[in-house]
Amino acid sequence: MPAIRTLMVAAEAYPLAKTGGLGDAVTGMAVAMVEAGIDLQLLLPAYRGVSRKLAGVRTVARLADLPGGPARLLAGRCRETGLSVLLLANDALYDRHGLYVDENGQEYADNAERFAALSHAALRISQGVQAVPVPHLVHAHDWHAGLVPLLLHAHAVRGVKTVMTLHNLAFQGLFPMEKADAVGLPQAYRDESGAQAWGRINYLKAGIAYADRVTTVSRNYAREILTPAFGCGLDPLLAGRGEHLVAIANGIDDRTWDPARDPCLDGMHYSARDVRNKARCKQALQKAFGLAQQPDKVLLAMGNRLTHQKMADVAVQALPLALQAHPELQVVVIGEGERGYEAALRELGERFAGRCGVRIGYDEAAGHRLHAGADMLLHGSRFEPFGLTPLYAMRYGTIPIGSRVGGMADTIHDPGEHAPDEAMRAATGVLFEGDSVQAMVGAIGRAVRLHARAPLWRAMQRNGMTGEFGWTAAVQPYVRLFREMVGPLADEAVRVPALRPVARPALVKVRAIGRPDNRDVGVAAAA
Ligand code: GLC
Repeated sequence: MPAIRTLMVAAEAYPLAKTGGLGDAVTGMAVAMVEAGIDLQLLLPAYRGVSRKLAGVRTVARLADLPGGPARLLAGRCRETGLSVLLLANDALYDRHGLYVDENGQEYADNAERFAALSHAALRISQGVQAVPVPHLVHAHDWHAGLVPLLLHAHAVRGVKTVMTLHNLAFQGLFPMEKADAVGLPQAYRDESGAQAWGRINYLKAGIAYADRVTTVSRNYAREILTPAFGCGLDPLLAGRGEHLVAIANGIDDRTWDPARDPCLDGMHYSARDVRNKARCKQALQKAFGLAQQPDKVLLAMGNRLTHQKMADVAVQALPLALQAHPELQVVVIGEGERGYEAALRELGERFAGRCGVRIGYDEAAGHRLHAGADMLLHGSRFEPFGLTPLYAMRYGTIPIGSRVGGMADTIHDPGEHAPDEAMRAATGVLFEGDSVQAMVGAIGRAVRLHARAPLWRAMQRNGMTGEFGWTAAVQPYVRLFREMVGPLADEAVRVPALRPVARPALVKVRAIGRPDNRDVGVAAAA
């Protein structure tokens, strides 16, 4: 059977460009799709330094008249992952310090043009660019690629299917209508039946409205986003997509995240069968953060973006209370985000010197050592489409303490605080409801008490470490979906372009939300 050709369009793909879980998910998914027989090319902006990470880079096309000016398409192969990559090169747009924000954390003023250019490049490739094969299907990720389905629809590109995957509905890519010309938004798509929402251009809405299929990254999030509390104003539009909205749970890259061969662990490898070296990893982590190097201390780690979404505001209040309540507790924090939370956590480190170590910043190796050395991981979120970090923790025998939202409600198994021991033996973590300080402190306390019961704790560790979370299995529903959408590919030469099954959606008016911008709107603001 000929392979399905897919063009995957995203703003991030580890290790070429990453600011968060999106970058991990895109690469993990892409590599597994290739292994499953998909003929995949990844399209990314040529951010500063990215082309150097590719082997055999060459210019394959020149694209005039893109938003933000003419660009080149570079093709190469990612040295680390082997993925075939197309880079959209326009130094005026992408040769900058950050992916989305400048040195001061300010969004670039031309993000509308920067990511419209990416979508227009996908359109050109779908229309046929010399030396680049026309894909059967374009897989667009998050708002950065949201214009792709709309543009293919508007330019009547038949026969190229589109899938829009939602990793985070809180970021929608909202820009002033005055930018419509600059971003090449066709005239007929400028009203509320097109890309407009709340009087602005909304890239994600464009993707949701026009994609042949919309997918999101966990079952529970797929249910949540149909409600006003989590839909960020797009819940009516999503509900209107009916059976074309599909939940496909993420996986994790279980080769990169494997305590049995992780190069970041300085040879202190371990596995579900033999966890002895985890104690050495713990000691190394205690040392690195200036904590008392005692094996019987309970080491809790936090390693996520310090934002409102990630309940950093709750954690800065809950952690000192937990440290007071449990003398055996130690805390390490690695992360960066809003300045106020960073400052509050630094202060916590000073106040509990020797028991609490805080490092503002993030690097991959430190993240791996954090998961390896900790006993438990605190991962509060107000909303969490999937939540890769708690799964990384589980794989390293570190028990996640998470909030019961989004993907975490699916992946973390907790029969509850009143469950008998027998039931807790099947658990993989501790969940709490809501976003109160009390709930978070209570969950930490519960984890500390479970930790004291060694056989139970070991059973929970084993459950997490042996769970089947790899991308190889996780990607299969995508492969089936793509096959179903593209249909039989018997003879390339006489492939008759199929008519697109989705008609232009009926006018959908979306409800206004509190902060219709690109920032974390959070559940509270969207409610
Ligand atoms: C986003 C979501 C996160 C998810 C990741 C990968 O970062 O916030 O929940 O795990 O994308 O899909």
